Amino acid sequence: AHLLVLHGPNLNLLGTREPNVYGTVTMEGINRDLASLADRFGIGIDFYQSNHEGDIIDRLQAARGQSDGIIINPAAYTHTSVAIRDCLAAISIPTIEVHLSNIHAREEFRHTSLTAPVVMGQISGLGALGYTLAFHALLEEFAKRGL
Ligand code: DQA
Repeated sequence: AHLLVLHGPNLNLLGTREPNVYGTVTMEGINRDLASLADRFGIGIDFYQSNHEGDIIDRLQAARGQSDGIIINPAAYTHTSVAIRDCLAAISIPTIEVHLSNIHAREEFRHTSLTAPVVMGQISGLGALGYTLAFHALLEEFAKRGL
């Protein structure tokens, strides 16, 4: 089975970006942990980060026929992007949405996720652990599908 991990805008700045909100974990650190999990469980894994909505959509579309599951943190696009939501609905690959911070405990404009209704599930507020949990959720899904 193959997994795509997609990081949205500004997540390349993790580590130095608002550490009081996001902690000091870096994107590279998150990716390293996921890569070693994938290795341990024999899962292929690709990583992608972009600050551009259209590039994220192109990468998601390219996952068709290539990836069996997706872990995505759409970052600020979570709250604004009908286009990414439509793309996730169109490709119908099992997807878990992850947020490091608890979006429901923050500003009102972060309480709505346009993407959550079209993915398997959302994990919010657990920091980097959310990515590990998302990985295990997708492993279960792969097993169910005989992948
Ligand atoms: C985020 C939450 C979003 O509201 C914010 O725009 C981000 C990161 C998170 O991981 O907590 O960039 O997705």
